[in-house]
Amino acid sequence: MPVKILMVCLGNICRSPLAEGLLAAKLPKDKFLVDSAGTGAYHIGKQPDQRSVLTAQKNGLDISNQKARQFTSRDFDDYDYIYVMDNSNYDDVIELAKNENHKNKVQLILNELFPDDNVDVPDPYYGLQNGFDMVYEMLDETCTILAQKLIEKHS
Ligand code: 4NP
Repeated sequence: MPVKILMVCLGNICRSPLAEGLLAAKLPKDKFLVDSAGTGAYHIGKQPDQRSVLTAQKNGLDISNQKARQFTSRDFDDYDYIYVMDNSNYDDVIELAKNENHKNKVQLILNELFPDDNVDVPDPYYGLQNGFDMVYEMLDETCTILAQKLIEKHS
């Protein structure tokens, strides 16, 4: 059974698709499975936002085949680790948790880079392309640390 990691944001079209693509590219595919979901239902079934697709593409990463879905309480049992992009996502996900085990699976992704600081990955949706580039850089750094940690823990 692979170790399963879920990346979560609001729409599952901007930040978490980048986080999914980045982390998956840093982990061996036979041992880890990375997916993403949104707390909101607005964009179910859609491809990632074209600005995220472009940012990823500029960095040699193809995320265009991802499809948005909504986070459900079943994900707590299906996934070993749940990484949320911001504090609002954290509150929305925790609200659906049924027990302490569920709650303990949920972490803010930038706490891997800045432990205990509870920093948000800013929502780039209403901004310009450079906001997506900035989000990519943050997620790249934090996913590098996260991948090292996961590989060490599960080898
Ligand atoms: P994401 O960005 O949570 O990073 O996918 C957003 C995408 C869509 C909306 C908000 C944030 N929206 O309000 O539709």
